[in-house]
Parts: sequence; structure tokens; C-alpha cells
Amino acid sequence: MSPLFAFSYHNPTQIHFGPDSFAALATLVPADARVLLLYGGGSIKANGVHAQVTQALAAHHVVEFGGVEPNPTLETLTRAVAVVREQRLDFILGVGGGSVSDGAKFVAAAALYDGEGWDIVSGRHAVTQALPVGVVLTLPATGSESNAAAVVTRAATREKRVFYAQAARPRFAILNPRVMASLPDRQLANGLVDAFVHVCEQYLTYPVGALVQDGYAEAVLRALKTLADTFERRREPDWGQNLMWAANQALCGIIGVGVPQDWASHRLAVQLTALYDIDHGRTLSIIQPFVLREGIEARRAKLEQMGRQVFGLAQPSAEGVIAAIEAMYRGLGMPLHVREAGVSEADAAGRVLALARAQGHVPFKGAMPLDEGQVERVIRGA
Ligand code: NZQ
Ligand code: ZN
Repeated sequence: MSPLFAFSYHNPTQIHFGPDSFAALATLVPADARVLLLYGGGSIKANGVHAQVTQALAAHHVVEFGGVEPNPTLETLTRAVAVVREQRLDFILGVGGGSVSDGAKFVAAAALYDGEGWDIVSGRHAVTQALPVGVVLTLPATGSESNAAAVVTRAATREKRVFYAQAARPRFAILNPRVMASLPDRQLANGLVDAFVHVCEQYLTYPVGALVQDGYAEAVLRALKTLADTFERRREPDWGQNLMWAANQALCGIIGVGVPQDWASHRLAVQLTALYDIDHGRTLSIIQPFVLREGIEARRAKLEQMGRQVFGLAQPSAEGVIAAIEAMYRGLGMPLHVREAGVSEADAAGRVLALARAQGHVPFKGAMPLDEGQVERVIRGA
């Protein structure tokens, strides 16, 4: 069996979890900070989160910037960067879901970079400095609140890309499960599936004998599977609290240390959002089963392990485990094909493939590579 890879792990994000955690903002944000409060389309105004956050920051200098879209665009975030510069702000507080958290990281990095903002996203500029970032999470899904990743879309070219910037990793994250009361069912299901696939990307590869990482990944997957099985209890406090913590742990980095990682599902699924605006979680329920089927031989051992440890099957087959994953998505009302997400365009697959090719994902290289034909079958199948 291959040994673990060497790794260095440091996650400095301080998490404040609990129903009264907004109050901590008053001291978490330095008293003399000049704060940009970055938010999305206004859900925080409708559900009272904005009022509670501004109350906690009543003694602080705060400038607001709203309108960050789901799948935040370079164009909008660049306007936020201009506000930061004009008003000499020095602390970025994102209040929202993954889109706002990612946007906050971009703004924090771009404010200290004189070149084109897209250089940061494309990797042309490696971020070494950023303004301090804090996050008040309103949608558990991405794990963005305590990781170093951010995904930004350039609307002009319909390119959606991820970049990593340790300097922009949030200093703190407020995880208040009460904020979930206003989340539509659709976003709860999206978040659950996103978190589930995040763990899969770090677990469903080949065995390296990582007892701790595997055990922890399985614990998080089992928790998410239980939440899917009990989706009718989604408005009860313990259900939401578990989703919030599971989604955080799924992508805070701890599960993936020292083990092979995949990310093919994410890299290919992202093109569906870029072209057709399909919610991130839904692109994953569409793409991931096809990725798993194409790469089934390489993943067979871990799929069988997942069948035993997560789905409780006595003698699992890899094929049966993929079917169980699909059944779970189906039970949550998630689409398994692009047409179920409303895409009727005849050559949708051709366009997705062209975009994936332009981003260097055909063939897909990585721990679980897919050759050109396999990538094409994934996209045409989906
Ligand atoms: O814009 P607002 O008004 O805030 O409304 C949002 C948005 O319409 C709404 N919402 C959020 N919290 C709410 C709420 N509505 C009612 N009550 C609340 N408490 O939900 C909608 C979706 O929000 P968004 O932030 O877009 O969703 P999510 O958290 O799923 O984030 C998706 C983005 O994160 C990226 C995705 O690609 C996508 O751009 N990802 C980031 C990752 C990372 N940084 O590590 C990893 C992920 O794989 C993902 O790629
Ligand atoms: Zn994701």
C-alpha cells in the first residue's frame, strides 16, 4: 500500500459556533478596523442577520457593499475593491454563503494587488498578502468560511475558476445555526450534497492506509447520509447544527491531509454553472456519479469500503455504492442529468466539453486521471 504523503497542516480560522455567536463580532473585529461589510442579494436584510451583525459592530466604522451574486463575478467584486481603496478600508467581513465568503477573500487579496484582478483567479499572480478577512456564514455548504479557496467567475468570458490564498483565509468564522431558518429547502439540499462530494473528492480515490483520515471522512459522510435520510427533520435545531458543522469539517482541510485527492467532479461540474447557471450543489449531483462510473476500477476498493462504512452494506459492490449515492441525491430532489436542471440545448455537452478543454481538464490529470474519452463520456452522459 502506498504511504501517506508528507504534509504540513495549519488552519488558523477561529470558529465561533452557537446561537449567540454574533456578539463575538464586537471583539473579533479590531476596534480601530475600517470594515467592509460584504453581502449578497439581500437575504441578510430579510432574515435579520444584517441587523444583528450591525448591532454587534455598532462601535465600529463599517461601510457596506451588497449585491455579490451567487457564483460571484470578477466584475462585481472589482467594484467592491474600488470601494475598499477609495474609503481606505482595512478589514473585510463577508456575511453570506460560499459566494460572499469567496468574494471576501478575493476583495481582500485584490485590494493589495495593483495588477488585473483576474491575475489572482487565473493563478498568474500568487497571492502572498491580503487584508484580514472574517466571515459570518449564512449557508452551510462550501467550507469556504475556514479554508483558503475561493471561486470567482469572469462573466465577460463565462470562466469560473478556483484560486487558493492562505493569506486570505478567514481569521474567524461565525457559525450561528439560527441563520439557517430562512434557507429554502433547495439550498439545504444543495449544501448537503456539496459537503458530501467534498468528502468524496478527498476519500474516494485509492487506499493509502490512512486510518485517521478515512475514519474521519467516513464519520462526516455518515453524518451527511443520516441528514439526507432524515431530511423531513430539517427544520429541527439539531439537524441544522449537524449540517453546519459537517459542511465545515468536510472542507476545512483536515480530511485531506496526506491522502490522494481527486476533484474531477468539481472541475468538470463548474463548467455547468459557468454556462447554464446551475446551482453548484446541483452540478455535482449531475456530474459526480458519471465520474465515479468512468473511474470505477481505480476507485473500486474505496467505493466498497464506503459501502460498508457509510451505507452499512454487508457485501457492497462498487456499482451498488454509486447507485446508493444516486438514490440519496434523488431522495433530496437533486437532478442527475442536465435536462433535469432545465438545460435543453442540443449541443450542451459540446459547449461544456469545449470549456473544460480550454481550462486544461481534458484529459483530466491528477490522482484519479481520466483520459480524453472518459472525460467526454462523463460530460455526454450527464
Ligand atoms: O445572495 P443572498 O441574498 O445572500 O442569497 C443567497 C443566494 O441566493 C442565499 N442564502 C444564503 N444564505 C441564506 C440565503 N437565503 C436565505 N437565508 C439564508 N440564511 O442562497 C443563495 C446561494 O448562496 P451562495 O453563497 O451562492 O451558495 P453556496 O454557499 O452554495 O456557495 C456557492 C459558491 O461557492 C463556491 C461555488 O463554486 C459557488 O460559487 N465554492 C466554494 C468553495 C470554497 N471556497 O472552498 C468550494 C465549493 O466547492 C464551491 O465551489
Ligand atoms: Zn463544492
